[in-house]
Amino acid sequence: MWIRLRLDIGWGDLVRGFFYCLKPGGRAQAVERARHAWSEKDDVLIPLSVRSGFDLVLRALQLPPGSEVLLSALTVPDMVRIVEFHGLIPVPVDTDENGQIILTSLCQAITPQTRMVVVAHLFGGCAALDDVLEIARRHNLMVVEDCAQSFHRVGDSAHRASDVAMFSFGPIKTATALGGAVIRVSSPELRASMVQLLNADPIQSRASFARRLVRFTALKFLSGRLAGTLFRWLVECLGYDFDSLANSVVKGFGASDLMTQLRRQPSTPLLRLLRRRWQSYNFARIERRIRMGRHFDARIGQSHAEAYSYWVYPVYVREPVTVRDRLRSAGFDATCRARMTVVAAVDESRVPTSARFIWGHVMFLPWYPEMPDEVVDKMASLIAPADLIAAQQHKPTHTSVVAGLRPCHERDRRSPE
Ligand SMILES: Cc1ncc(COP(=O)(O)O)c(C=O)c1O
Repeated sequence: MWIRLRLDIGWGDLVRGFFYCLKPGGRAQAVERARHAWSEKDDVLIPLSVRSGFDLVLRALQLPPGSEVLLSALTVPDMVRIVEFHGLIPVPVDTDENGQIILTSLCQAITPQTRMVVVAHLFGGCAALDDVLEIARRHNLMVVEDCAQSFHRVGDSAHRASDVAMFSFGPIKTATALGGAVIRVSSPELRASMVQLLNADPIQSRASFARRLVRFTALKFLSGRLAGTLFRWLVECLGYDFDSLANSVVKGFGASDLMTQLRRQPSTPLLRLLRRRWQSYNFARIERRIRMGRHFDARIGQSHAEAYSYWVYPVYVREPVTVRDRLRSAGFDATCRARMTVVAAVDESRVPTSARFIWGHVMFLPWYPEMPDEVVDKMASLIAPADLIAAQQHKPTHTSVVAGLRPCHERDRRSPE
């Protein structure tokens, strides 16, 4: 079985991580070195995760309670929780199948209470920002780029006109260090307040990071082809749902007391590991992913923008569970469940219909550079043109299409989102 879970970290990096846990002292130097390994400019800070960084932005801004924060309609649930935790109202902005913001939805979502728009660059893509920025500036909104899924270059500062850009190095990300994030903040005042808040937070302990290393070392072992197949078989024999287990194992933080877990500074060994990853990451892996993606696109008749880096490969199909099962019986651990969510609409006029529709029809393939061409070809041959939803059907004007199809979660009651 080609297991979906593959951590983008080598055994050598994991061993180094353990060594860094044992190496005493050097915190101030580790912070400086990590920052400079990313950027020579003094415009970034390194919190424990993107979620921690986003929380820091909101802590520093102190927006009036009841202010609205616009979010790309597809995001991870914790981003929504963080907004709510600050007494703010999360409002979805509709996105298409490539995570592009639908501008009419953005304009409809803005009210006098709106203060910020958070644009997620999804699946390894790059959401176009020029128009979003122009609209945001007209309404005096701050623009935050969520680049958690789109890292492809050390030192990236994303769109030069955005206010904040956030990159994640959590467990399932490209070049993971099993945690850590980079937050680029344009305003020196905002950055200074965030640094002050971050420096007053408790520090993640070395023991806590060492436990994380143990957990993900075990997971790396279990995600090999043979061990992974046996592991899946064992989990299912014991009556558990492998997808739920997989999603919860790679979770950066436990479900309880999210904010306490987020409000910690990264430990010294994590800072050292981040620097090591940025200095020695093999970017040919991303190039390979892109070649695989282009080839797969051609095989199934899809296309992606030039800048797409194929972090994951979502396919939008009429019957996600049926196609998923077909792939699974051929040895491919596809899934139609992911850790993301569609942000709930605050009122009927601001429902993200496109995001809801595509999320009900998405299937993710196992996807990593180690997969040989013939395996990628075989996977493509299992997806028929009739399985796919045509591009124009993703658009928000698809009421008849929506009515004609039952979403994935309705058809597969055994494994609800
Ligand atoms: C779109 C998006 N935003 C934010 C996050 C959170 O990143 P982190 O785990 O660094 O907090 C993720 C994590 O998967 C993500 O996919």
